[in-house]
Amino acid sequence: MTSPAALTVTDLDLDAIEASTACVAVLVGSDGKMGRAARRVNRLTKGAVKRVIESDGFAKLEEGDAITLSFPVGMATETLLVVKLARNTSPDLARKAGATIGAAMGKAGALILSTNSKRGGDIALGALLKAYKFTDHTSEGPASSVPTVTLAVTKPEDVDAASVTALAEGVFFTRDLVTEPANVLTTTEFAARLEALTALGVEVEVLDEKALEALGMLTLLAVGQGSRSPSKVVVMQWNKGPKGDAPLALVGKGVVFDTGGISIKPAAGMEDMTMDMGGAGVVAGVMKSIALRDVKANVVGLVGLVENMPDGNATRPGDVIKSMKGDTVEIINTDAEGRMVLCDVMWYAQERFAPRGMIDLATLTGAIIIGLGHENAGVFSNDDAFCKSFLKAAEIEGEGAWRMPLGAAYDKQLKSDVADMKNVGGRPAGSITAAQYLQRFVKEGTPWIHLDIAGVAEVKAPTALAPKGATGWGVLALNRLVDDLAAE
Ligand code: BES
Ligand code: MN
Ligand code: ZN
Repeated sequence: MTSPAALTVTDLDLDAIEASTACVAVLVGSDGKMGRAARRVNRLTKGAVKRVIESDGFAKLEEGDAITLSFPVGMATETLLVVKLARNTSPDLARKAGATIGAAMGKAGALILSTNSKRGGDIALGALLKAYKFTDHTSEGPASSVPTVTLAVTKPEDVDAASVTALAEGVFFTRDLVTEPANVLTTTEFAARLEALTALGVEVEVLDEKALEALGMLTLLAVGQGSRSPSKVVVMQWNKGPKGDAPLALVGKGVVFDTGGISIKPAAGMEDMTMDMGGAGVVAGVMKSIALRDVKANVVGLVGLVENMPDGNATRPGDVIKSMKGDTVEIINTDAEGRMVLCDVMWYAQERFAPRGMIDLATLTGAIIIGLGHENAGVFSNDDAFCKSFLKAAEIEGEGAWRMPLGAAYDKQLKSDVADMKNVGGRPAGSITAAQYLQRFVKEGTPWIHLDIAGVAEVKAPTALAPKGATGWGVLALNRLVDDLAAE
Protein backbone atom coordinates (compact mmCIF):
# COMPACT_ATOMS: atom_id res chain seq x y z
CA MET A 1 0.00 0.00 0.00
CA THR A 2 1.30 3.44 -0.87
CA SER A 3 0.55 6.28 1.50
CA PRO A 4 0.77 9.96 0.65
CA ALA A 5 3.17 12.27 2.47
CA ALA A 6 2.11 13.44 5.92
CA LEU A 7 0.78 16.96 5.59
CA THR A 8 1.29 19.59 8.31
CA VAL A 9 0.05 23.13 7.98
CA THR A 10 1.76 25.70 10.21
CA ASP A 11 2.47 29.37 10.68
CA LEU A 12 5.53 30.66 8.93
CA ASP A 13 8.54 30.16 11.20
CA LEU A 14 11.40 32.05 9.58
CA ASP A 15 13.95 30.68 12.02
CA ALA A 16 13.19 27.07 11.09
CA ILE A 17 14.21 27.47 7.44
CA GLU A 18 17.98 27.41 7.81
CA ALA A 19 18.12 24.01 9.51
CA SER A 20 15.42 22.28 7.47
CA THR A 21 16.68 19.23 5.61
CA ALA A 22 13.47 18.97 3.59
CA CYS A 23 13.26 20.28 0.05
CA VAL A 24 12.60 24.00 0.61
CA ALA A 25 10.28 25.78 -1.81
CA VAL A 26 9.86 29.55 -1.95
CA LEU A 27 7.09 31.00 -4.08
CA VAL A 28 7.65 34.16 -6.07
CA GLY A 29 5.27 35.82 -8.53
CA SER A 30 6.32 36.96 -12.00
CA ASP A 31 6.63 40.50 -10.59
CA GLY A 32 9.67 39.17 -8.71
CA LYS A 33 8.50 40.60 -5.38
CA MET A 34 9.93 38.66 -2.45
CA GLY A 35 7.78 37.95 0.57
CA ARG A 36 9.14 37.49 4.08
CA ALA A 37 10.17 33.90 3.53
CA ALA A 38 11.85 34.58 0.20
CA ARG A 39 13.76 37.47 1.75
CA ARG A 40 14.96 35.25 4.58
CA VAL A 41 16.06 32.49 2.17
CA ASN A 42 17.75 35.13 0.02
CA ARG A 43 19.69 36.39 3.03
CA LEU A 44 20.69 32.85 4.07
CA THR A 45 21.94 32.06 0.58
CA LYS A 46 23.79 35.35 0.23
CA GLY A 47 21.54 36.69 -2.51
CA ALA A 48 20.99 33.54 -4.58
CA VAL A 49 17.20 33.92 -4.64
CA LYS A 50 17.47 37.47 -5.93
CA ARG A 51 19.83 36.30 -8.69
CA VAL A 52 17.36 33.61 -9.68
CA ILE A 53 14.48 36.07 -9.81
CA GLU A 54 16.46 38.51 -11.95
CA SER A 55 17.66 35.80 -14.34
CA ASP A 56 16.46 35.21 -17.91
CA GLY A 57 15.55 31.68 -16.88
CA PHE A 58 13.09 32.94 -14.30
CA ALA A 59 11.58 35.43 -16.76
CA LYS A 60 10.95 32.60 -19.22
CA LEU A 61 9.64 30.20 -16.60
CA GLU A 62 5.99 29.21 -16.87
CA GLU A 63 3.86 29.75 -13.81
CA GLY A 64 3.95 26.69 -11.58
CA ASP A 65 7.47 25.71 -12.70
CA ALA A 66 10.64 26.22 -10.68
CA ILE A 67 14.34 26.86 -10.82
CA THR A 68 16.30 24.44 -8.63
CA LEU A 69 19.34 25.31 -6.55
CA SER A 70 21.18 22.21 -5.35
CA PHE A 71 23.08 22.22 -2.06
CA PRO A 72 22.58 25.99 -1.56
CA VAL A 73 25.10 27.69 0.72
CA GLY A 74 23.84 28.83 4.09
CA MET A 75 21.09 26.20 4.32
CA ALA A 76 20.90 22.59 5.47
CA THR A 77 18.65 21.54 2.60
CA GLU A 78 19.97 19.77 -0.47
CA THR A 79 17.31 21.27 -2.71
CA LEU A 80 15.97 24.79 -2.86
CA LEU A 81 13.19 25.48 -5.33
CA VAL A 82 12.28 28.96 -6.44
CA VAL A 83 8.76 28.41 -7.74
CA LYS A 84 7.04 30.96 -9.94
CA LEU A 85 3.53 31.45 -8.65
CA ALA A 86 1.38 34.55 -8.27
CA ARG A 87 -0.21 35.14 -4.87
CA ASN A 88 -3.72 35.15 -6.34
CA THR A 89 -3.14 32.29 -8.77
CA SER A 90 -5.74 29.80 -10.07
CA PRO A 91 -6.36 26.44 -8.36
CA ASP A 92 -4.91 24.71 -11.44
CA LEU A 93 -1.63 26.58 -11.32
CA ALA A 94 -1.43 26.17 -7.56
CA ARG A 95 -1.70 22.39 -8.06
CA LYS A 96 0.89 22.56 -10.82
CA ALA A 97 3.29 24.38 -8.49
CA GLY A 98 2.60 21.75 -5.86
CA ALA A 99 3.31 19.02 -8.41
CA THR A 100 6.64 20.65 -9.26
CA ILE A 101 7.55 20.45 -5.57
CA GLY A 102 6.18 16.91 -5.20
CA ALA A 103 8.27 15.69 -8.14
CA ALA A 104 11.46 17.18 -6.66
CA MET A 105 11.09 16.46 -2.95
CA GLY A 106 11.84 12.74 -2.72
CA LYS A 107 12.10 11.12 0.70
CA ALA A 108 13.23 14.35 2.36
CA GLY A 109 9.73 15.79 2.03
CA ALA A 110 9.15 19.49 1.55
CA LEU A 111 8.91 22.76 3.39
CA ILE A 112 6.66 25.01 1.33
CA LEU A 113 7.06 28.61 2.41
CA SER A 114 4.78 31.54 2.78
CA THR A 115 1.92 30.75 0.55
CA ASN A 116 -1.38 32.43 0.34
CA SER A 117 -3.62 30.26 2.56
CA LYS A 118 -6.36 30.38 -0.06
CA ARG A 119 -4.35 28.28 -2.48
CA GLY A 120 -2.49 26.28 0.15
CA GLY A 121 -4.75 23.25 -0.14
CA ASP A 122 -4.23 23.04 -3.90
CA ILE A 123 -0.47 23.37 -3.60
CA ALA A 124 -0.41 20.61 -0.99
CA LEU A 125 -2.66 18.33 -3.02
CA GLY A 126 -0.46 18.78 -6.09
CA ALA A 127 2.64 17.93 -4.05
CA LEU A 128 1.12 14.82 -2.48
CA LEU A 129 -0.33 13.46 -5.72
CA LYS A 130 2.73 13.99 -7.88
CA ALA A 131 5.04 12.30 -5.37
CA TYR A 132 3.34 8.90 -5.82
CA LYS A 133 5.82 6.06 -6.18
CA PHE A 134 4.90 2.37 -6.12
CA THR A 135 7.81 0.34 -4.82
CA ASP A 136 6.09 -2.68 -3.25
CA HIS A 137 7.58 -5.18 -5.70
CA THR A 138 11.07 -3.80 -6.22
CA SER A 139 13.96 -4.62 -3.91
CA GLU A 140 13.34 -1.18 -2.35
CA GLY A 141 10.15 -2.70 -0.96
CA PRO A 142 7.12 -0.92 0.47
CA ALA A 143 8.02 2.43 2.05
CA SER A 144 8.53 2.05 5.79
CA SER A 145 7.75 5.72 6.46
CA VAL A 146 6.28 8.62 4.56
CA PRO A 147 7.91 11.99 3.95
CA THR A 148 6.46 15.10 5.57
CA VAL A 149 5.15 18.06 3.64
CA THR A 150 5.05 21.17 5.79
CA LEU A 151 3.02 24.00 4.40
CA ALA A 152 3.74 27.33 6.05
CA VAL A 153 0.91 29.78 5.43
CA THR A 154 -0.39 32.99 6.88
CA LYS A 155 -3.64 31.41 8.12
CA PRO A 156 -3.16 27.68 8.76
CA GLU A 157 -6.77 27.32 9.91
CA ASP A 158 -7.91 28.15 6.37
CA VAL A 159 -6.33 25.01 4.91
CA ASP A 160 -8.31 21.76 5.24
CA ALA A 161 -5.35 19.40 5.51
CA ALA A 162 -7.52 16.42 6.45
CA SER A 163 -9.57 16.76 3.30
CA VAL A 164 -6.47 17.13 1.10
CA THR A 165 -5.03 13.99 2.64
CA ALA A 166 -8.32 12.10 2.24
CA LEU A 167 -8.38 12.91 -1.47
CA ALA A 168 -4.77 11.85 -1.90
CA GLU A 169 -5.46 8.62 0.02
CA GLY A 170 -8.30 7.80 -2.37
CA VAL A 171 -6.23 8.54 -5.46
CA PHE A 172 -3.32 6.46 -4.11
CA PHE A 173 -5.67 3.57 -3.37
CA THR A 174 -6.87 3.63 -6.98
CA ARG A 175 -3.34 3.92 -8.36
CA ASP A 176 -2.07 1.03 -6.25
CA LEU A 177 -4.92 -1.22 -7.40
CA VAL A 178 -4.37 -0.29 -11.04
CA THR A 179 -0.61 -0.80 -10.78
CA GLU A 180 -0.70 -4.16 -9.00
CA PRO A 181 0.09 -7.13 -11.27
CA ALA A 182 -2.67 -9.68 -11.78
CA ASN A 183 -0.85 -12.45 -9.93
CA VAL A 184 -1.02 -10.26 -6.82
CA LEU A 185 -4.34 -8.51 -7.34
CA THR A 186 -6.54 -11.53 -7.91
CA THR A 187 -10.29 -11.22 -7.55
CA THR A 188 -9.94 -12.57 -4.00
CA GLU A 189 -7.19 -10.13 -3.05
CA PHE A 190 -9.14 -7.23 -4.59
CA ALA A 191 -12.21 -8.13 -2.53
CA ALA A 192 -10.06 -8.37 0.62
CA ARG A 193 -8.64 -4.87 0.03
CA LEU A 194 -12.17 -3.54 -0.33
CA GLU A 195 -13.31 -5.31 2.83
CA ALA A 196 -10.63 -3.34 4.67
CA LEU A 197 -12.73 -0.21 4.04
CA THR A 198 -15.05 -1.39 6.82
CA ALA A 199 -12.46 0.10 9.20
CA LEU A 200 -13.48 3.51 7.83
CA GLY A 201 -17.20 2.92 8.33
CA VAL A 202 -18.02 1.64 4.84
CA GLU A 203 -20.41 -1.34 4.84
CA VAL A 204 -18.86 -3.97 2.58
CA GLU A 205 -20.43 -7.16 1.29
CA VAL A 206 -18.77 -9.71 -0.96
CA LEU A 207 -21.06 -11.81 -3.17
CA ASP A 208 -19.48 -15.11 -4.19
CA GLU A 209 -20.22 -17.20 -7.30
CA LYS A 210 -23.04 -19.09 -5.61
CA ALA A 211 -24.77 -15.83 -4.66
CA LEU A 212 -24.22 -14.40 -8.14
CA GLU A 213 -25.70 -17.48 -9.76
CA ALA A 214 -28.72 -17.28 -7.49
CA LEU A 215 -29.17 -13.64 -8.53
CA GLY A 216 -28.92 -14.64 -12.20
CA MET A 217 -25.75 -12.70 -13.00
CA LEU A 218 -24.87 -15.16 -15.73
CA THR A 219 -23.23 -12.78 -18.19
CA LEU A 220 -20.80 -11.71 -15.46
CA LEU A 221 -20.14 -15.31 -14.50
CA ALA A 222 -19.64 -16.24 -18.17
CA VAL A 223 -16.65 -13.89 -18.32
CA GLY A 224 -14.94 -15.42 -15.28
CA GLN A 225 -15.65 -19.08 -15.92
CA GLY A 226 -12.34 -19.73 -17.68
CA SER A 227 -10.33 -18.49 -14.71
CA ARG A 228 -9.11 -20.25 -11.57
CA SER A 229 -9.94 -17.05 -9.66
CA PRO A 230 -13.55 -16.96 -8.51
CA SER A 231 -15.76 -14.13 -9.79
CA LYS A 232 -17.08 -11.74 -7.16
CA VAL A 233 -19.26 -8.69 -6.81
CA VAL A 234 -18.41 -6.32 -3.97
CA VAL A 235 -21.02 -3.90 -2.66
CA MET A 236 -19.80 -0.90 -0.66
CA GLN A 237 -22.31 1.32 1.08
CA TRP A 238 -21.76 4.75 2.59
CA ASN A 239 -25.02 5.92 4.13
CA LYS A 240 -24.22 9.12 6.03
CA GLY A 241 -26.66 11.26 4.04
CA PRO A 242 -30.30 11.99 4.85
CA LYS A 243 -32.12 8.77 5.78
CA GLY A 244 -34.22 7.40 2.96
CA ASP A 245 -32.59 9.55 0.27
CA ALA A 246 -31.80 7.45 -2.82
CA PRO A 247 -28.04 6.96 -3.15
CA LEU A 248 -25.73 7.76 -6.01
CA ALA A 249 -24.54 4.43 -7.45
CA LEU A 250 -21.00 3.98 -8.78
CA VAL A 251 -20.40 0.80 -10.76
CA GLY A 252 -16.94 -0.35 -11.78
CA LYS A 253 -15.51 -2.86 -14.25
CA GLY A 254 -13.02 -4.96 -12.35
CA VAL A 255 -11.40 -7.32 -14.84
CA VAL A 256 -8.22 -8.13 -12.95
CA PHE A 257 -6.68 -9.41 -16.16
CA ASP A 258 -8.06 -9.41 -19.69
CA THR A 259 -6.44 -11.93 -22.02
CA GLY A 260 -9.40 -11.55 -24.34
CA GLY A 261 -10.47 -15.10 -23.49
CA ILE A 262 -10.91 -17.51 -26.40
CA SER A 263 -10.89 -14.44 -28.70
CA ILE A 264 -7.37 -14.00 -27.37
CA LYS A 265 -5.49 -10.73 -27.67
CA PRO A 266 -2.13 -10.40 -29.47
CA ALA A 267 0.92 -10.91 -27.22
CA ALA A 268 2.36 -7.42 -27.70
CA GLY A 269 1.11 -5.13 -24.98
CA MET A 270 -1.09 -7.74 -23.32
CA GLU A 271 0.69 -7.02 -20.02
CA ASP A 272 -1.13 -3.68 -19.95
CA MET A 273 -4.38 -5.54 -19.34
CA THR A 274 -3.44 -5.74 -15.69
CA MET A 275 -5.10 -2.30 -15.53
CA ASP A 276 -8.44 -3.59 -16.84
CA MET A 277 -9.88 -3.23 -13.36
CA GLY A 278 -9.40 0.54 -13.55
CA GLY A 279 -13.11 1.33 -13.27
CA ALA A 280 -13.42 -0.72 -10.10
CA GLY A 281 -10.24 0.94 -8.87
CA VAL A 282 -11.77 4.40 -9.22
CA VAL A 283 -14.95 3.30 -7.41
CA ALA A 284 -12.76 1.97 -4.59
CA GLY A 285 -10.75 5.20 -4.39
CA VAL A 286 -13.88 7.36 -4.30
CA MET A 287 -15.43 5.26 -1.53
CA LYS A 288 -12.22 5.57 0.49
CA SER A 289 -12.02 9.36 0.08
CA ILE A 290 -15.64 10.05 0.91
CA ALA A 291 -15.37 7.84 4.00
CA LEU A 292 -12.19 9.59 5.16
CA ARG A 293 -13.87 12.96 4.57
CA ASP A 294 -16.99 11.73 6.36
CA VAL A 295 -19.18 13.14 3.61
CA LYS A 296 -22.85 13.54 4.48
CA ALA A 297 -24.19 11.70 1.46
CA ASN A 298 -25.54 8.31 0.41
CA VAL A 299 -23.25 6.59 -2.06
CA VAL A 300 -23.06 2.93 -3.04
CA GLY A 301 -20.13 1.48 -4.93
CA LEU A 302 -20.45 -1.85 -6.74
CA VAL A 303 -17.66 -3.62 -8.56
CA GLY A 304 -17.67 -6.75 -10.68
CA LEU A 305 -14.40 -8.63 -10.13
CA VAL A 306 -13.53 -11.27 -12.72
CA GLU A 307 -10.59 -12.56 -14.71
CA ASN A 308 -10.98 -13.13 -18.46
CA MET A 309 -8.96 -16.26 -19.31
CA PRO A 310 -9.03 -18.90 -22.05
CA ASP A 311 -9.55 -22.39 -20.64
CA GLY A 312 -11.45 -25.62 -21.28
CA ASN A 313 -14.33 -24.13 -19.37
CA ALA A 314 -14.15 -20.66 -20.93
CA THR A 315 -17.06 -19.07 -22.75
CA ARG A 316 -16.94 -19.51 -26.53
CA PRO A 317 -17.82 -17.15 -29.34
CA GLY A 318 -21.34 -18.12 -30.37
CA ASP A 319 -22.50 -18.95 -26.85
CA VAL A 320 -25.79 -17.39 -25.80
CA ILE A 321 -26.05 -16.22 -22.19
CA LYS A 322 -28.96 -14.84 -20.21
CA SER A 323 -28.31 -11.67 -18.23
CA MET A 324 -29.76 -10.90 -14.80
CA LYS A 325 -32.22 -8.56 -16.50
CA GLY A 326 -33.46 -11.50 -18.59
CA ASP A 327 -32.22 -10.30 -21.97
CA THR A 328 -30.04 -12.80 -23.80
CA VAL A 329 -26.65 -12.03 -25.29
CA GLU A 330 -24.91 -13.74 -28.20
CA ILE A 331 -21.19 -13.67 -27.59
CA ILE A 332 -19.44 -12.78 -30.81
CA ASN A 333 -16.15 -11.84 -29.23
CA THR A 334 -15.10 -12.96 -25.75
CA ASP A 335 -12.81 -9.92 -25.61
CA ALA A 336 -15.86 -7.66 -25.30
CA GLU A 337 -16.17 -8.83 -21.71
CA GLY A 338 -16.38 -5.59 -19.77
CA ARG A 339 -19.92 -4.82 -20.87
CA MET A 340 -21.00 -8.35 -19.88
CA VAL A 341 -19.71 -7.76 -16.38
CA LEU A 342 -21.19 -4.29 -16.11
CA CYS A 343 -24.65 -5.08 -17.43
CA ASP A 344 -25.37 -7.50 -14.59
CA VAL A 345 -23.87 -5.29 -11.88
CA MET A 346 -25.72 -2.22 -13.21
CA TRP A 347 -28.99 -4.12 -13.24
CA TYR A 348 -28.40 -5.37 -9.73
CA ALA A 349 -27.52 -1.85 -8.53
CA GLN A 350 -30.81 -0.50 -9.85
CA GLU A 351 -32.93 -3.39 -8.58
CA ARG A 352 -31.47 -3.21 -5.10
CA PHE A 353 -30.85 0.50 -4.55
CA ALA A 354 -33.12 2.41 -6.98
CA PRO A 355 -30.35 5.04 -7.17
CA ARG A 356 -30.95 8.75 -7.86
CA GLY A 357 -28.26 8.40 -10.50
CA MET A 358 -25.83 5.75 -11.70
CA ILE A 359 -22.32 6.22 -13.02
CA ASP A 360 -20.37 3.32 -14.43
CA LEU A 361 -16.64 3.45 -15.02
CA ALA A 362 -14.76 1.02 -17.25
CA THR A 363 -11.62 0.56 -19.28
CA LEU A 364 -14.11 -0.57 -21.88
CA THR A 365 -12.83 -0.02 -25.41
CA GLY A 366 -9.62 0.48 -27.32
CA ALA A 367 -11.72 2.58 -29.68
CA ILE A 368 -12.05 5.37 -27.12
CA ILE A 369 -8.26 5.71 -27.19
CA ILE A 370 -8.39 6.05 -30.97
CA GLY A 371 -11.07 8.72 -30.61
CA LEU A 372 -9.90 10.75 -27.62
CA GLY A 373 -6.34 9.61 -26.93
CA HIS A 374 -5.11 9.87 -23.37
CA GLU A 375 -6.43 13.38 -22.70
CA ASN A 376 -10.13 12.74 -22.17
CA ALA A 377 -12.35 9.97 -20.94
CA GLY A 378 -15.43 9.27 -23.06
CA VAL A 379 -18.64 10.42 -21.39
CA PHE A 380 -22.00 8.95 -22.43
CA SER A 381 -25.28 9.87 -20.78
CA ASN A 382 -29.04 9.65 -21.04
CA ASP A 383 -29.52 12.79 -18.91
CA ASP A 384 -28.24 16.23 -19.93
CA ALA A 385 -28.41 17.84 -16.47
CA PHE A 386 -26.66 14.94 -14.73
CA CYS A 387 -24.04 14.81 -17.45
CA LYS A 388 -23.44 18.55 -17.23
CA SER A 389 -22.87 18.39 -13.50
CA PHE A 390 -20.29 15.66 -13.97
CA LEU A 391 -18.53 17.51 -16.81
CA LYS A 392 -18.35 20.63 -14.65
CA ALA A 393 -16.82 18.71 -11.73
CA ALA A 394 -14.30 17.07 -14.06
CA GLU A 395 -13.32 20.39 -15.58
CA ILE A 396 -12.72 22.02 -12.21
CA GLU A 397 -10.57 19.06 -11.18
CA GLY A 398 -8.60 19.11 -14.43
CA GLU A 399 -9.69 15.59 -15.32
CA GLY A 400 -10.32 15.50 -19.07
CA ALA A 401 -13.82 14.36 -20.03
CA TRP A 402 -15.58 14.65 -23.37
CA ARG A 403 -19.22 13.84 -24.10
CA MET A 404 -19.93 11.35 -26.88
CA PRO A 405 -23.24 10.65 -28.61
CA LEU A 406 -25.75 7.85 -28.14
CA GLY A 407 -28.57 7.04 -30.56
CA ALA A 408 -30.97 4.42 -31.85
CA ALA A 409 -29.07 4.04 -35.13
CA TYR A 410 -25.97 2.88 -33.22
CA ASP A 411 -28.08 0.51 -31.15
CA LYS A 412 -29.13 -1.32 -34.33
CA GLN A 413 -25.55 -2.52 -34.76
CA LEU A 414 -26.15 -4.85 -31.80
CA LYS A 415 -28.93 -6.84 -33.47
CA SER A 416 -28.50 -10.60 -33.21
CA ASP A 417 -30.22 -13.39 -35.14
CA VAL A 418 -30.26 -15.84 -32.24
CA ALA A 419 -30.44 -13.68 -29.10
CA ASP A 420 -31.74 -10.31 -27.92
CA MET A 421 -28.40 -8.70 -28.74
CA LYS A 422 -24.82 -9.38 -29.76
CA ASN A 423 -22.03 -8.35 -27.42
CA VAL A 424 -20.25 -6.37 -30.16
CA GLY A 425 -21.46 -3.99 -32.84
CA GLY A 426 -18.61 -4.19 -35.34
CA ARG A 427 -15.72 -1.78 -35.89
CA PRO A 428 -17.53 1.49 -36.62
CA ALA A 429 -18.18 3.57 -33.48
CA GLY A 430 -16.90 0.81 -31.21
CA SER A 431 -17.06 2.90 -28.04
CA ILE A 432 -20.57 4.10 -28.79
CA THR A 433 -21.97 0.64 -29.50
CA ALA A 434 -20.40 -0.53 -26.22
CA ALA A 435 -22.26 2.29 -24.48
CA GLN A 436 -25.46 1.35 -26.36
CA TYR A 437 -25.11 -2.17 -25.05
CA LEU A 438 -24.87 -0.82 -21.50
CA GLN A 439 -27.81 1.52 -22.00
CA ARG A 440 -30.03 -1.48 -22.64
CA PHE A 441 -29.51 -2.27 -18.96
CA VAL A 442 -30.42 1.20 -17.68
CA LYS A 443 -33.98 1.47 -16.42
CA GLU A 444 -36.30 4.14 -17.75
CA GLY A 445 -35.95 7.11 -15.40
CA THR A 446 -32.50 6.32 -14.00
CA PRO A 447 -30.11 9.17 -14.81
CA TRP A 448 -26.96 7.43 -16.04
CA ILE A 449 -23.44 8.28 -17.07
CA HIS A 450 -21.00 5.83 -18.62
CA LEU A 451 -17.31 6.75 -18.39
CA ASP A 452 -14.99 4.91 -20.77
CA ILE A 453 -11.63 5.41 -19.07
CA ALA A 454 -9.49 3.06 -21.20
CA GLY A 455 -7.32 5.98 -22.33
CA VAL A 456 -6.93 7.81 -19.05
CA ALA A 457 -6.69 5.21 -16.26
CA GLU A 458 -3.04 4.49 -16.99
CA VAL A 459 -0.71 6.44 -19.26
CA LYS A 460 2.85 6.04 -20.48
CA ALA A 461 3.93 9.62 -19.77
CA PRO A 462 3.60 11.81 -16.68
CA THR A 463 0.43 13.89 -16.37
CA ALA A 464 -0.08 17.16 -14.50
CA LEU A 465 -0.60 15.49 -11.14
CA ALA A 466 0.76 11.98 -11.63
CA PRO A 467 4.00 10.31 -12.58
CA LYS A 468 3.69 7.95 -15.56
CA GLY A 469 1.50 4.92 -14.91
CA ALA A 470 -1.79 4.80 -13.03
CA THR A 471 -3.42 8.23 -12.77
CA GLY A 472 -6.42 7.78 -10.49
CA TRP A 473 -8.40 9.76 -13.05
CA GLY A 474 -11.94 10.41 -11.82
CA VAL A 475 -11.41 10.18 -8.07
CA LEU A 476 -11.27 13.96 -7.65
CA ALA A 477 -14.14 14.70 -10.04
CA LEU A 478 -16.44 12.13 -8.43
CA ASN A 479 -15.62 13.40 -4.94
CA ARG A 480 -16.59 16.87 -6.10
CA LEU A 481 -19.75 15.58 -7.76
CA VAL A 482 -20.77 13.80 -4.57
CA ASP A 483 -20.30 17.09 -2.66
CA ASP A 484 -22.22 19.05 -5.31
CA LEU A 485 -25.14 16.59 -5.27
CA ALA A 486 -25.23 16.63 -1.46
CA ALA A 487 -25.43 20.43 -1.51
CA GLU A 488 -28.43 20.50 -3.89
N1 BES B 1 -10.12 -4.06 -21.82
C1 BES B 1 -10.33 -3.87 -23.20
C2 BES B 1 -10.28 -2.42 -23.64
C3 BES B 1 -8.96 -1.72 -23.48
C4 BES B 1 -8.09 -1.61 -24.54
C5 BES B 1 -8.64 -1.12 -22.29
C6 BES B 1 -6.91 -0.94 -24.39
C7 BES B 1 -7.45 -0.44 -22.13
C8 BES B 1 -6.58 -0.35 -23.18
C9 BES B 1 -11.71 -4.44 -23.57
O1 BES B 1 -12.16 -5.48 -22.81
C10 BES B 1 -11.61 -4.92 -24.97
O2 BES B 1 -10.89 -5.85 -25.19
N2 BES B 1 -12.34 -4.30 -25.88
C11 BES B 1 -12.33 -4.67 -27.23
C12 BES B 1 -13.76 -4.69 -27.72
C13 BES B 1 -13.93 -5.33 -29.07
C14 BES B 1 -13.66 -6.82 -28.98
C15 BES B 1 -15.32 -5.06 -29.54
C16 BES B 1 -11.50 -3.66 -27.99
O3 BES B 1 -11.52 -2.50 -27.64
O4 BES B 1 -10.79 -4.07 -28.90
MN1 MN C 1 -11.47 -7.35 -23.53
ZN1 ZN D 1 -11.39 -5.62 -20.89
